[in-house]
Amino acid sequence: MGSLEIIRGDITRQEVDAIVNAANSSLLGGGGVDGAIHAAGGPDILAECRMLRRDRLPHGLPAGQAIATGAGRLPARWVIHAVGPVHSPSDDRTHLLESAYRSSLDVAAELGAESVAFPAISAGAYGWPKESAAFVAVSSVADRLDDFELVRFVLFSDELHELFHRAASELL
Ligand code: APR
Repeated sequence: MGSLEIIRGDITRQEVDAIVNAANSSLLGGGGVDGAIHAAGGPDILAECRMLRRDRLPHGLPAGQAIATGAGRLPARWVIHAVGPVHSPSDDRTHLLESAYRSSLDVAAELGAESVAFPAISAGAYGWPKESAAFVAVSSVADRLDDFELVRFVLFSDELHELFHRAASELL
């Protein structure tokens, strides 16, 4: 049984095989997790993202999908760029948020990554309600834990850290 960890911390400092970026469809950077990963990882990550855009993703990466690059100067080996949905009060995009997590795990498995660290995708700039973000995140990975040695959620606030622990205690 692979282990699930829920910690308070900075995704850029995680010593795991793959960290997941809360990217946008352009893959050309942003703020939050995206900004932190590019700042800490250095220009090689963005250079690889630009090549992906040029060679494979002329229209960008759709919400719910994920793609990997190297990790530049980060301790991780890969960055898996996942695009979460922007929250909409009128349009239920839960399936896209689930897909962002599950596609990231698919990419991690293809890479042979044994340990993966996730931020709370869509829970920042994309406005997803935090309790729902936690429950969707934990439920999305729950049936895949045996495929990895470690799946870790890295939360940037005490509030989300508590919400993810609550989701795990209810769902697992
Ligand atoms: N480590 C871990 N978590 C972090 C970090 C960090 N260094 N920095 C921010 N977070 C947290 C935020 O507090 C939030 O809880 O990650 C969660 C996701 O927030 P965002 O990074 O804003 O991601 P998201 O809501 O998916 O919005 C994506 O924001 O940065 C832009 O380019 C990105 O356009 C895209 C959008």
